[in-house]
Amino acid sequence: MGYDLQMKVWRGDATGGELVDYTVPVEEGEVVLDALHRIQATQSGDLAVRWNCKAGKCGSCSTEINGKPRLACMTRLSTFEDGETVTVTPLRAFPVIRDLVTDVSYNYKVAETIPAFAPEPRPADGAYRMQQVDVERGQEFRKCIECFLCQTVCHVIRDHEENKPQFSGPRFFLRYAELEMHPLDTNDRRQLAREQAGIGLCNITKCCTEVCPEGIHITDNAIIPMKERVVDRSFDPVTWLGRKIFRR
Ligand code: SF4
Ligand code: F3S
Ligand code: FES
Repeated sequence: MGYDLQMKVWRGDATGGELVDYTVPVEEGEVVLDALHRIQATQSGDLAVRWNCKAGKCGSCSTEINGKPRLACMTRLSTFEDGETVTVTPLRAFPVIRDLVTDVSYNYKVAETIPAFAPEPRPADGAYRMQQVDVERGQEFRKCIECFLCQTVCHVIRDHEENKPQFSGPRFFLRYAELEMHPLDTNDRRQLAREQAGIGLCNITKCCTEVCPEGIHITDNAIIPMKERVVDRSFDPVTWLGRKIFRR
């Protein structure tokens, strides 16, 4: 059964903007992205919203809906109370380009700073071997769709642009953990995770885990184990002595 949905959508650009009221005819079973598309089709053809798959898999339609970072294509209108106004705003941690589209290039710049997977040489028979438990651990991390909802919700950069140069954010702590826990990888990224990625600035609020649409246990399975490894490397006396000798 159809009904009229009351919406407020942020419209503007890098110089400023405001919430604009819309009354949108919607159908039962629709999602927030359907309502935004109807606004584009019938009321404001120039409304900018980024999307691609409409299936929760491309990570493009990330917005903030009633103040919570969410995928617009996976947020059912039935989530809201009868008569509740649905407010859609751009991701707060990133600069606005136009309307709901933000410039997320900070994330790609961070990605470039992480040394790539560097596997050990192949064994004589040419076949890499891994324990099944290691395969499964990595699979959870590789479910990431790079929606950057965890990045925008993290208080370390959400309202603190000045922290970005020294903080990579939860999505990239996940990447550090994925590579660091890979049994065939030969790089040691623990010092980088501390000094360049700023993992020490994370105080385990777990907001990133709460918003992850893939249900990845970012804090418990990636950040905390990574913090432990970083501490081991920094304070373990044998490692410390080894580093000293190596430096001579
Ligand atoms: Fe999105 Fe989750 Fe990946 Fe963060 S870890 S970018 S919330 S899928
Ligand atoms: Fe930020 Fe997640 Fe840590 S929200 S503070 S990275 S637990
Ligand atoms: Fe692809 Fe929403 S449009 S995740």
